[in-house]
Amino acid sequence: MAIDLSVTVNGMRFDNPFVLGSGPPGTNGKVIARSYDLGWGGMVCKTMSLDASKVVNTAPRYAKLRARTSEEVIGFENIELISDRPFEHWIDDLKQLKKNYPHKILIASIMEECRKEAWQEITRAVQATGVDGFELNLSCPHGMPERKMGMAVGENPDLIEEVLGWVKEVSTIPVWAKMTPNVGNPVVPAGAALKGGADGIAMINTILSVIGIDMKTLRPMPTVEGYSVPGGYSGQAVRPIALRQVMEVARHFPGTEISGIGGIETGLDAAQFMLLGASTVQVCTGAMLRGYEIITELKAELEKFMVDHKFANLREFIGKSLPYFTTHHDLGDRQKDAREAKEQARAKGARAMDAETWKGEIAVETSALVTN
Ligand SMILES: Cc1cc2nc3c(=O)[nH]c(=O)nc-3n(C[C@H](O)[C@H](O)[C@H](O)COP(=O)(O)O)c2cc1C
Repeated sequence: MAIDLSVTVNGMRFDNPFVLGSGPPGTNGKVIARSYDLGWGGMVCKTMSLDASKVVNTAPRYAKLRARTSEEVIGFENIELISDRPFEHWIDDLKQLKKNYPHKILIASIMEECRKEAWQEITRAVQATGVDGFELNLSCPHGMPERKMGMAVGENPDLIEEVLGWVKEVSTIPVWAKMTPNVGNPVVPAGAALKGGADGIAMINTILSVIGIDMKTLRPMPTVEGYSVPGGYSGQAVRPIALRQVMEVARHFPGTEISGIGGIETGLDAAQFMLLGASTVQVCTGAMLRGYEIITELKAELEKFMVDHKFANLREFIGKSLPYFTTHHDLGDRQKDAREAKEQARAKGARAMDAETWKGEIAVETSALVTN
């Protein structure tokens, strides 16, 4: 059976649905080129802004949560900001990448201060490099909100719609809005983005968290000169939260292109996001912990899943599990109906059994009479 892993989303053709998510895996042109060579279907580069001099990162900026009985990293927290590379360097890298890899999908993640001129300036400049699409970072939960950027926009539906409107006014390529999970109902900000003209929704960014306290020093982690701030949680532990948010948005806005993100480390993790409505998936922490090479495994696992279920292409199963969410009340009704049906079947079975026994007894008695 021929398996087709390619998918076309908002006119962009991805060789396969595995996209490296914005973050350290897409920190410059050199590493992005390497990811293409290894077979990733697309790439969202690290978020850039017009003035990188305002971005001051700390060291350390990562902390890990390990399983209790092994060294396995189950959760990851970062307090990393957006890219601190000069904007001009990014422009050169993007141009070069599109020249060397014209058929590979390159999505530029951008973020700006909440002003129309700033958003439109960055959109125009980046678009001129030939990138295939934009991802608007409306969701970084740490550092940037202090400058009224990132999550400060993403948790405010009016601002989301406004920013989308500014960008869409000047963009000629698809625009995805990357959403924050740090809201009660993800449908509200996603709806604002779609109303503002977003072509697709990327979700989720990291979850605000405090990963723990160093029990020797009693200081919160990651510890910078003895202090810390809440950071963004990612990796395996966030996957159930991301799946739920993707499901809610997919059910509420059928047909919307969703790029599913959050704790994807295997082909089967990816398949679950797709069953809940994502047409592409992004991997960030998984690639940081296990290397860009995991792409070979991811593709093989997804392919095996498709063979096992006889799916020839991705669209055959995107959203397939969505109809099986319902209300809790309905679950109760279904359970009651199933129990009643089972009891009725049992009673019918018992009646049939009685009739069989009765028939048997008659036969025995009749044969006894004949013999006598
Ligand atoms: C160290 C680190 C840096 C990140 N930087 C960015 C960023 O610059 N822009 C962005 O949109 N998301 C950023 N993210 C968020 C990821 O793209 C992704 O949304 C999130 O980590 C959940 O996916 P994951 O579990 O596969 O990492 C970053 C994540 C990590 C771990």
